[in-house]
Amino acid sequence: MCGIVGYVGDSKSIEVLLGGLRRQEYRGYDSAGIAVIDVDGHLDSRKKAGKLQALVDELESNPIADGATGIGHTRWATHGGPTDRNAHPQLGDNGKLALIHNGIIENFFELKEELLAEGAVFTSDTDSEVAALLVGKAYQETKDVTEALRQVVARLHGAFTLLVVHEDQPGVVVGARRNSPLVIGLGDGENFLGSDVAAFVEHTRRAVEIGQDQIATIRTDSVSVTDFDGNPVETKEYEINWDASAAEKGGWSSFMAKEISEEPEAVAKTLLGRVVAESVRLPELDGIGDEILENIDRIVIIACGTAAYAGMLGKYAIEKWSRIPVDVELSHEFRYRDPILTERTLVVSISQSGETMDTLMAVKYAKEAGAQVLSICNTQGSSIPRESHAVLYTHAGPEVAVASTKAFLAQVTALYLLGLHLGRVRSTINPDEIAAAAAELNDIPEKIAEVLLSAASIKQLAHWMTDTKSVLFLGRNVGFPVALEGALKLKELAYIHAEGFAAGELKHGPIALIEPGQIVFVIVPSPRDPLSLHPKVVSNIQEIRARGARVIAIAEKGDAAVLPFADEVIPIPLAGSLFEPLLAVVPLHIFAMELSAAKGLDVDQPRNLAKSVTVE
Ligand code: M6R
Repeated sequence: MCGIVGYVGDSKSIEVLLGGLRRQEYRGYDSAGIAVIDVDGHLDSRKKAGKLQALVDELESNPIADGATGIGHTRWATHGGPTDRNAHPQLGDNGKLALIHNGIIENFFELKEELLAEGAVFTSDTDSEVAALLVGKAYQETKDVTEALRQVVARLHGAFTLLVVHEDQPGVVVGARRNSPLVIGLGDGENFLGSDVAAFVEHTRRAVEIGQDQIATIRTDSVSVTDFDGNPVETKEYEINWDASAAEKGGWSSFMAKEISEEPEAVAKTLLGRVVAESVRLPELDGIGDEILENIDRIVIIACGTAAYAGMLGKYAIEKWSRIPVDVELSHEFRYRDPILTERTLVVSISQSGETMDTLMAVKYAKEAGAQVLSICNTQGSSIPRESHAVLYTHAGPEVAVASTKAFLAQVTALYLLGLHLGRVRSTINPDEIAAAAAELNDIPEKIAEVLLSAASIKQLAHWMTDTKSVLFLGRNVGFPVALEGALKLKELAYIHAEGFAAGELKHGPIALIEPGQIVFVIVPSPRDPLSLHPKVVSNIQEIRARGARVIAIAEKGDAAVLPFADEVIPIPLAGSLFEPLLAVVPLHIFAMELSAAKGLDVDQPRNLAKSVTVE
């Protein structure tokens, strides 16, 4: 949560900072603020509760002088409500120092008591102000921002990224990170810091990773990184593989609309170079090695939210093709129940952002317990891949809307590739079966593009439902995670009560919810499904219809058996059973987006949420 940007260069800080915040607003949008050291060496700041536009308006009515050094912050509130006074920057050293913070300082209470006893005056309810006052105090002794920050981080517990500027040291921005993201952007006569590369991709595509417990000091012509003890550390530069235009709306009404339109491409790019000569090759897994993969006796998939639903789909495919038992767990539940892990356990983490704190902590835990860790991730250079033994990048491109869409499809694709790779390495699937599955995957992008053509009728459906208070989603087998995903999207975007159920579970309780007019989406398996689940789901439809439900079926094109029982049918192209979720989920993404838009809500930035959940 919280987006951070830091800049040293020429006298255009405000423009750079606001651009960096605009591109990172998806990380948090409770308030925004900037601090700039102007050309006369004077530090000034502005901050405002609400979205970034409120800050822009404030800067128009109450401008500050521009300068060559500055920091900016967009907030997802943790300690202290989303108010002006709790917005960042927080000030220290009598207003000469500004600090921004992402994360939670867990021992802030004791530190605050200590400062209060010394007579400090607090102007906010945040944990971050404690850090600002402490760094200010340390600066009075050290007269060096880097050294002052180093002394303070040694006293902090929890997860944090901190950026600090001091007016006595213009031309210097110092950042520190522990379990929260921070990356350097290398420019020409200018340098940047950001929570992610979106902060500066407009200006440079050269980035440098900063590791855990490290401090970076940037100046116009130099960048230095040390550990928390002050020892220099080696850094790794990489090139950002997308440009700024990829993170622009490009004429779409919302980022989510654009990202749904990119779903075919997200799958295609994730497959690219990995399906070769009708087989699947994942050289990225070399870091783990075929010998280890052959000996794995269990896979544990860890993830949160939508990524966990992708994991549930991965379980069906991986178990079928590799015959390795797979458990899927929410990262935050996994870590705290003393899970059984051995060196023969492969832990697969899934994360779009690569920064989800719950998943990051679970990955570290699994690694320490001796398991092999593979991460499936969409964000180059992020924290989770760095903590893993191997990484399988999805190539969905930057995902900006808070609701995850194209990344979900790319994650499922990557998991299916993993299942095929493991099946090949362990000889549990023959080359013909691999070739058939690979061919199915290769056809998916075109089929998703076909589903996208029904967007107009789904939009109409959504417009009829703006007063709906509750929607249920049913699916069986691979349709179940799709039902869960459909419900999550509706909750987060349209603020409607929504639940996903396994259709077989209906008669064990949830059917009591059905009353006349209840809207139920049903993901119907193909009539050609080898498990013969189709007639069972059609029976479930009849059972709820008999009790007054209004049924919207997502069913294979030409499925005549469903037509008499559904109020609406959204057709999807024919595909093998395992691959249907990659098509069936698309109308649900569109539906949630359209219902949110029809209700006049903010599609890209739903209330109370942030794109990357970087606090536990
Ligand atoms: O970045 P991650 O994939 O780790 O994020 C996981 C979840 O926070 C994320 O999928 C969340 O559930 C989305 N808002 C769902 O649309």
